Amino acid sequence: MNKILAISGSLRNTSSNTTILKYLQKIAPSDVEIEIYDELGALPHFNPDIDNEKSPEVVTRFRSKLKEANGVIICTPEYAFGVPGVLKNGLDWIVSSGEFTDKPTATISASPLATGGDKAHASLLVTIKVMGAKVVESGSVTVPIVLKKFDSEGVITDEKTAKEFEVMMNSLISAF
Ligand SMILES: Cc1cc2nc3c(=O)[nH]c(=O)nc-3n(C[C@H](O)[C@H](O)[C@H](O)COP(=O)(O)O)c2cc1C
Repeated sequence: MNKILAISGSLRNTSSNTTILKYLQKIAPSDVEIEIYDELGALPHFNPDIDNEKSPEVVTRFRSKLKEANGVIICTPEYAFGVPGVLKNGLDWIVSSGEFTDKPTATISASPLATGGDKAHASLLVTIKVMGAKVVESGSVTVPIVLKKFDSEGVITDEKTAKEFEVMMNSLISAF
């Protein structure tokens, strides 16, 4: 079984970004399991002084999950034109440990606004590329006006976005 670790940059219960990841879980081929990482909010604030052989267990778990994953999908909102702090904090824990090196990765940003979180998306790409992530071709999707693209059950209603997700998933899976 191939594994994708999916990370939402939003901790909200009814997050649009997490809704997208749940949708991707449903459309994944039967030999690909998508796990939605659920401990982003439990990671301590990154501090190099506590990043040693006694690093917090939740950090070790995060690193193991990333290491074991064949690919990663990050789906994030934009906060004040940037990446949400909670997601940047999670990424900071991986800078030195290196789990992103050559990791096939896809990135999505979604926003109720017409810009689709494009500035956070651009910033996220700079960060993960410097960490060595292999961002796959057609693997970066921006979803503007997200509230009009899914119904209340989390079913996608916009064909163009559905196609972009399909192409993104195929590209990610073929990079394993
Ligand atoms: C503190 C804060 C800052 C925000 N800044 C932006 C922004 O810069 N750009 C944007 O497109 N949306 C911004 N938004 C709106 C978010 O895109 C919106 O709340 C979105 O639903 C968050 O994603 P989620 O549904 O996955 O939680 C902001 C929201 C909050 C709470």
